[in-house]
Amino acid sequence: MNFINNTIVQKKLMAFAGLIWFVYVIAHVLSLSSFHFGKQAFNDFYNWFNGSIIYWPMLFVLAATLAFHVFTAVTRQLGNNVAIGANRYHHIYPKIIPRFIAWSGAAMLIAFIVFHFVQMQLLSDLDPYQQISNIFTQPVMLLVYIFGLIALGMHLHHGLTNVLQTLGISSNQYNLIAIFIVLLLLFGFISIPVSVIYA
Ligand code: HEM
Repeated sequence: MNFINNTIVQKKLMAFAGLIWFVYVIAHVLSLSSFHFGKQAFNDFYNWFNGSIIYWPMLFVLAATLAFHVFTAVTRQLGNNVAIGANRYHHIYPKIIPRFIAWSGAAMLIAFIVFHFVQMQLLSDLDPYQQISNIFTQPVMLLVYIFGLIALGMHLHHGLTNVLQTLGISSNQYNLIAIFIVLLLLFGFISIPVSVIYA
């Protein structure tokens, strides 16, 4: 009984950590949209944001929740958890997409987040708009970002369908809602390199 409870608590905490990242990703895509308002708007926003009081606490929360989410997922998988109720959410994603592909996608997403974070930390405060534009003129960087966004889309679709299912939304509805939210987010992110290429 204790074991089952732990499994459910773990899943809830993982979902909560995922939710924090989901909120961050929405805020990130919204703040990136300042890119479409030109150099001044983008540079002003990021120079303010990097020096703001929320920046370092936000990074700490993101790092802690990501570490927890990944650690719990890996330990649960290694423990091959088959407690009653643990498979409740599994019938869409792993059956259609084999576990190996799901884990490869998740690994790709983490690799992208780490790469992107380091790359962004290495930007200087002088004209981040120009530096982002320079990044997206390199074909290899376009590929890195395209793969990163595909991995994000797959993982978010998986997470969102689980959450919507828990909320009791019917199966054909939650799939469509999840696809719609994911496409909206991906469209926002991809609009940045696209606007650089077609500038
Ligand atoms: C085309 C897509 C993207 C662009 C152009 C982009 C751009 C940026 C920029 C300009 C920064 C801030 C650099 C600074 O603080 O000076 C940043 C930071 C960051 N990005 Fe992205 N990003 C993209 C996609 C993503 C995705 C998909 C994720 C997560 C899955 C992500 C996660 C982060 C994180 C964790 C940080 C560090 C915290 C922060 O400064 O906000 N980014 N990104």
